[in-house]
Amino acid sequence: MIPFKSVLITGGGGFVGSNLALLLREAWPSLRVTVLDSLKRRGSELNLPRLAETGIEFRHGDIRCRDDFDDLPAFDLMIDCSAEPSVQAGLGGSPQAVLDTNLMGTIHCLEAAREQGAAFLFLSTSRVYPIQPLNDLPHEETSTRFSWTDRTDIPGYSERGVSEGFTLKGARSFYGTSKLAGEQLIEEYVYSYGLRALINRCGVIAGPWQMGKVDQGVITLWVARHFFGRPLRYTGFGGTGKQVRDILHVADLFDLIRLQLETPECWDGRVYNVGGGREGSVSLLELTELCVKETGNTVPITSVPETAGVDLRVYLTDTTKVQADFKWKPARNPARIVHDIHAWIDNHQQMVGRLLA
Ligand SMILES: NC(=O)c1ccc[n+]([C@@H]2O[C@H](COP(=O)([O-])OP(=O)(O)OC[C@H]3O[C@@H](n4cnc5c(N)ncnc54)[C@H](O)[C@@H]3O)[C@@H](O)[C@H]2O)c1
Repeated sequence: MIPFKSVLITGGGGFVGSNLALLLREAWPSLRVTVLDSLKRRGSELNLPRLAETGIEFRHGDIRCRDDFDDLPAFDLMIDCSAEPSVQAGLGGSPQAVLDTNLMGTIHCLEAAREQGAAFLFLSTSRVYPIQPLNDLPHEETSTRFSWTDRTDIPGYSERGVSEGFTLKGARSFYGTSKLAGEQLIEEYVYSYGLRALINRCGVIAGPWQMGKVDQGVITLWVARHFFGRPLRYTGFGGTGKQVRDILHVADLFDLIRLQLETPECWDGRVYNVGGGREGSVSLLELTELCVKETGNTVPITSVPETAGVDLRVYLTDTTKVQADFKWKPARNPARIVHDIHAWIDNHQQMVGRLLA
């Protein structure tokens, strides 16, 4: 059982929000689930019919507008999944839009939660960790990937990955900074108003119903391009496709959140690094291999050697803390993630074709 009766999921039309909404509904049919979304993300509208089918209420609204929180059903839990989620947001232009949503919008979400006395679950990001210190970590190059090597003298770093103790000093992108600012505001709300809150700093989340695009949702993008026979590019770090990320199936994220919801004593503003971990990691080259195996197609892949300012060579999540507190471990590996995305695209070719092809 969970101590909540009614949940508001902001950004619930998006990839993470819609999947969580449906899985929550399935796990606790009596839980009232309301979703608020501006449908800014192209493709989020495709999630609305499947939300409606299960009785999840959709409200069109923008978290940048405080008034859009008025007249919502009462809620005792807010899951904040509304964001501009691209690390490239604001680059080559103004950061205004990403800051308006991720910073001002988060303040409005926190205010609404405070007024309702609701608990607050924040989907933060591994991108709060700064770029240069991550790219300076000791590494080697193997035939298919870059790999971090062991060092014991760097706080928050080990071969397992980056833990919550890693430095937060340095530039990290407007996206990462706006999310870190959100985390810090949550800390103030916990301290000043007794807000019950929990923060999951997630690495790459992947799975069905992610409307992948070049700057966000790379796993879907890779599978879709193989499925539809469209070209791809290895960009950055010499253009060899050896950069590495750990990836987490959205259903594994839900399994964790389920345990977190059942553990109210942890809702004191705690921060957890959440991800697929070392065993759940792939390089782009290895991802290509998985996609070829899964779809049976090969596609032309060109190289762009230049590295963009926000690119990371390697990122792995050290999940020691979250595993210890919730006895949780991801169950779905990268091959399974690719398989599930492929099955979803195959079953919904008509619907997602225009978007993903
Ligand atoms: N997907 C990942 O790999 C990943 C990794 C780490 C953290 N996160 C975080 O998880 C959350 C969900 O990400 P996602 O992958 O589902 O992204 P998404 O783009 O699929 O979903 C975000 C949703 O928020 C909505 N939205 C954007 N601006 C809004 C606004 N001003 N008002 C109301 N709705 C708005 C969009 O329309 C979209 O439906 C985000 O907070 C993101 O920072 C995602």
